[in-house]
Amino acid sequence: MNADELRSKYIEFFKSKGHAQIQGKSLIPDNDPTVLFTTAGMHPLVPYLLGENHPAGKRLTDYQKCIRTGDIDAVGDSSHLTFFEMLGNWSLGDYFKEGAIEMSFEFLTSPQWLGIPIEKLGVTVFQGEGDISRDDESAAVWKRMGIPESRISYRPREDNWWGPAGSTGPCGPDSEMFYDFGKEPCGPDCGPGCSCGKWLEIWNDVFMQYNKNAEGAYEPLARKCVDTGMGIERTVTILNGKKSVYDTEIFAPIIRGIEKAIAAGGNGGAVYTYGTDPEKDKSVRIISDHVRSSTFILGDPKAVSPSNVGAGYVLRRLIRRSVRHCRKLGIAGSPLLSPIAEIIVDQLKGPYPELLENRAFIIDELNKEEEKFLETLQKGEHEFEKLLPNLLKDPRKIMSGRLAFKLYDTYGFPIELTEELAAENGMTVNRAEFDEAFKKHQELSRAGSEQVFKGGLSDHSETTTRYHTATHLLQKALRMVLGDHVAQKGSNITAERMRFDFSHNAPMTAEEIAKVQEIVNQQIQRDLPVKMEVMSLDEAKASGAMALFGEKYESQVKVYSIGDFSKEVCGGPHVEHTGTMGKFIIQKEQSSSAGVRRIRAVLE
Ligand code: ALA
Repeated sequence: MNADELRSKYIEFFKSKGHAQIQGKSLIPDNDPTVLFTTAGMHPLVPYLLGENHPAGKRLTDYQKCIRTGDIDAVGDSSHLTFFEMLGNWSLGDYFKEGAIEMSFEFLTSPQWLGIPIEKLGVTVFQGEGDISRDDESAAVWKRMGIPESRISYRPREDNWWGPAGSTGPCGPDSEMFYDFGKEPCGPDCGPGCSCGKWLEIWNDVFMQYNKNAEGAYEPLARKCVDTGMGIERTVTILNGKKSVYDTEIFAPIIRGIEKAIAAGGNGGAVYTYGTDPEKDKSVRIISDHVRSSTFILGDPKAVSPSNVGAGYVLRRLIRRSVRHCRKLGIAGSPLLSPIAEIIVDQLKGPYPELLENRAFIIDELNKEEEKFLETLQKGEHEFEKLLPNLLKDPRKIMSGRLAFKLYDTYGFPIELTEELAAENGMTVNRAEFDEAFKKHQELSRAGSEQVFKGGLSDHSETTTRYHTATHLLQKALRMVLGDHVAQKGSNITAERMRFDFSHNAPMTAEEIAKVQEIVNQQIQRDLPVKMEVMSLDEAKASGAMALFGEKYESQVKVYSIGDFSKEVCGGPHVEHTGTMGKFIIQKEQSSSAGVRRIRAVLE
């Protein structure tokens, strides 16, 4: 059974059980500041799970494109995907545990539907916690269906509790269905849900009973709901007796395309067949998955372009990682990725016609980002060559990890390439030192992404990012016009305006205000590049970067330079080029407190 057949069968089955088919939604959620992407079929249904009435009724079914990037670094093994399709059925205050489990069981095992032998299945249910008791009700239904007790695992919250999808929203205990690959159990505790490779989760029935509110408390829902999700890629895997999602017909045409590109792409015309070299296979899987995600993000009606913030940043990472692995495989020439995207558009344009509608945009954006990254790589290579004479002076022939990190961080130059170039010149890279610097950087960016979730996306939107960069330009312009005593005392940014407090003893004159505004606008017109480097606080200060006096900093800090104009210690995010900021207008200058003035400004 292929993906198209599975999709149709699922919808047909649930229609026969009184469900209305609804449209899957955009990959970029509406009005939800708590997540960057739609991560599950339930996402667009959150308001209904919380009590709104759905126009299509109380029983719904659909297929939904989903992206989860939490495990992006794990992609490359045999099972992880960042893009996948989820089949779902919902009860909005209609059937609950019994009805959901009975229907799941019938669809999985009935010869009319999937016909999976019952002895290949195992399930998990919630083991209970605090006031919430063990889910014996679900277990009893499974037993009644014929699943023996030995194939029912009772598991904790980490495994058998779903949601909320963002930081708040509907959630509850769940019961998950697993396929048994038939391997020997890894130990006496090996059962459904064990991650040893014997079991693969294919479907999840969530019993939505609570709403986690902004204070973190669980309020009981007014009406109990069911939310289920079946992974198409995984289910196609087991239905066809495969071990890995990448071995299915879903990935076959993509992988054939990559093999062809390798054969055509220099590499001495070397022929490579997927499945013959673990390192190369991994690169093939990364490219296949990441180009699928990128194609769907760009093909979405609410598409974002690659950028340095939010969903655009994820997209940029997916594209750049794919390009890097194409190069690793010896695929030369350009474009590298868009021919693979064409295969994906062709394959999935039936269920997702938006891919065809946005085909030109997908191809164009992929090509542009790929070109940009190839330039970056070239710059990095050039930088490396400049460093080389000095590096070769080291009798131990070891390149410092900090230097390697600088190449990574400043030029986006991947460590693997630095290592390769070093090896070509008889050197090694101090990887432990690199890893340490990288870890610090990740902590910094994680702090950044948590802010996305805490404060809502509006805090990192393109608009607020522009204002953020404007505060740097403004601080420098004020220092030029009023003197070096000016230092930032605070700032406050909303999507509509910025406020900037700074030390200065007198009201600004109209001329001074006009001059400051003019300087900022000149820097915007110069379209200065914004660059970020990570360094120690001492290095930052020594380099002349401004830092907030009295602020506590980590030992490693991010320093943002705006062309040759400004340099500040700052967490970001910022625009990539000032040319995108718009026109800077100072609306008001007034006193804030003793010795502190306040400017209110807008970007138009
Ligand atoms: N929302 C549930 C999941 O994604 C069904 O597993």
